[in-house]
Amino acid sequence: MSVRRLAEDQFQPAAFAFNKENAVWAEKTIQKYPDGRQQSAIIPLMMRAQEQEGWVTKAAIETIADMLDMAYIRALEVATFYTQFQLNPVGTRAHVQVCGTTPCMLRGAEGLIKVCKSRINDHAFDRNADGTLSWEEVECQGACVNAPMVVIGKDTYEDLTPARLEEIIDAFAAGKGHEIQTGPQIDRVFSAPEGGLTSLLSDEAKAKSVASKTAKATAEAVATPPSEIAPEKADAAKKPSLDDKDRPAGIERPAQPDDLQLISGVGPKIEGTLHELGIFTFAQIASWHEAERHWVDGYLNFKGRIERDEWVRQAEALAKGGEAEYIKVFGKKPR
Ligand code: FES
Repeated sequence: MSVRRLAEDQFQPAAFAFNKENAVWAEKTIQKYPDGRQQSAIIPLMMRAQEQEGWVTKAAIETIADMLDMAYIRALEVATFYTQFQLNPVGTRAHVQVCGTTPCMLRGAEGLIKVCKSRINDHAFDRNADGTLSWEEVECQGACVNAPMVVIGKDTYEDLTPARLEEIIDAFAAGKGHEIQTGPQIDRVFSAPEGGLTSLLSDEAKAKSVASKTAKATAEAVATPPSEIAPEKADAAKKPSLDDKDRPAGIERPAQPDDLQLISGVGPKIEGTLHELGIFTFAQIASWHEAERHWVDGYLNFKGRIERDEWVRQAEALAKGGEAEYIKVFGKKPR
């Protein structure tokens, strides 16, 4: 565990006070605890102070200790023990917490850290030139199934590629972080399989599933959005026509089609759809122009994922030199 110290005096403000709204909230929060146990409110109060100021200042720690009738050293112990408390100023627009634990590391967290170093600062916790951004590496954030991921504020951004993280950082730098969709950054519903459903694929199976009380309760529990519950009808109208001029040319199925599932973002279902379109080789995908990519993206209802996952770049590498070339270009094995 790293040594955690308060920020240098030069950064410490002279005083701290909760704003009006937070002061009311703090009083109510303290009252939730039984008589004589009010000090238990220290963590929520410190978190609220951090949300208000961006980080936990010495003045905030002492003010909260006074509110809870605690010795300063006890409050300092809490602030310095829990790593979610930022003891130094962080970026005013975003502090990017990159998960570096095993599942995220295996899925490309190192690439995300490289982006943070190049876009924000070479050193974790040091801010960028205008003080708007900072970053750190953190332990597992509980979203391993959609690794790799980062946390910014209270939100997670999952299924990231370095390119997507760059876009997200740019948006926060421009003060437009609120416009970025949180959660999975690919066309996945929560932690459902990437590339679409892998079970209950037939209409008959779906009907049986819906009729089943248990399955229905489960479906409600996971609050599957409408886009997954009834996508066929809703999307049929928007789906580009198979006769559209931008549809990429298909070919006859070769004796040995390429394993399109090596492209990140292509699962068994998507590969099946690509085959139906006559797409069987990396070279075909590598040759897609923008309009063709847009057509396929619309046909798969991917909402930009083909660009985000860099299908063309992946396909180019695989077509040029298979897995070895892919590793050379992306620094990791294809999935
Ligand atoms: S390992 Fe990264 S979220 Fe769990």
